[in-house]
Amino acid sequence: MIPGQAPRSTARPKTVIFGNSKGGVGKSTLALLMALGLATRYRDASVKLIDLDPQATSSSSLQRFCDQRFSVVQGTSLRCEDGSPNNENILKHIEKERLNNFKKRFVVLDGAAGHQPSNSVFLHHCDIMLIPTSVSDADIYATRNYISGLHDLFNGRGKRQRPACPALVILPNLVDSRDEFNELRHALSKEQAYLGKPLYYSPAFRRAFREQRNDENIRIIFNQTQPYTLWLTSLATQSHRLDKKPEKLFQL
Ligand SMILES: Nc1ncnc2c1ncn2[C@@H]1O[C@H](COP(=O)(O)OP(=O)(O)OP(=O)(O)O)[C@@H](O)[C@H]1O
Ligand SMILES: [Mg+2]
Repeated sequence: MIPGQAPRSTARPKTVIFGNSKGGVGKSTLALLMALGLATRYRDASVKLIDLDPQATSSSSLQRFCDQRFSVVQGTSLRCEDGSPNNENILKHIEKERLNNFKKRFVVLDGAAGHQPSNSVFLHHCDIMLIPTSVSDADIYATRNYISGLHDLFNGRGKRQRPACPALVILPNLVDSRDEFNELRHALSKEQAYLGKPLYYSPAFRRAFREQRNDENIRIIFNQTQPYTLWLTSLATQSHRLDKKPEKLFQL
């Protein structure tokens, strides 16, 4: 330590992952909302977005906002040759955040389609796992399978000591109406997970990753989703309150 300098806190950053092996359910859109939402709400915090998707949708789009406290990480070092997540390198990036000088620190991971829980042991080091899904049959089916794989991973399958596991929150996305949301809740009623608030379909999201003059698109999205973004970012900061695994679906 340099004399006269305050000792650095070494607490682990709050780590949030958006995951679902199904593509197109809104992982990157919600990761963008979360990362920018946290950076705007907590001016004294650092936010790092780690983009696990080879298409680099969120990281390319957020590159322009990078500064001392907002950073993005992407690239081939985050993946193994077979496309699965490189757990060691992902954990290194999360751990590195312990050393920065910000009082609050957040890491937001944007998961990739096709990634399976069985080869994603880095998930043990996340505080909360957010699982977007639409209400389509194909997405619900894939989401159920994905959650089942997560339980297998977190239950440790015979290991005596259970490692830590994040709270699982299903995020209904691209929802059309309250009836549709109720339908989804019914279809997932047996899942041992939390059910988040619905994010309704809005054409504005189609322009979320575009670079526009004065960031007009981002401003419109944040205006439209203000209460939702507030709820979403609180979910990250309050994740420790969700530590119990619900017996069945528990609506937040
Ligand atoms: N609430 C919404 N309303 C309208 N469009 C949306 C909404 N959420 C996401 N989209 C759109 O749906 C598409 C898929 O979203 P997104 O890229 O976030 O999904 P993803 O899960 O990250 O996909 P992938 O697995 O391919 O990375 C995008 O075109 C996005 O703009
Ligand atoms: Mg994506």
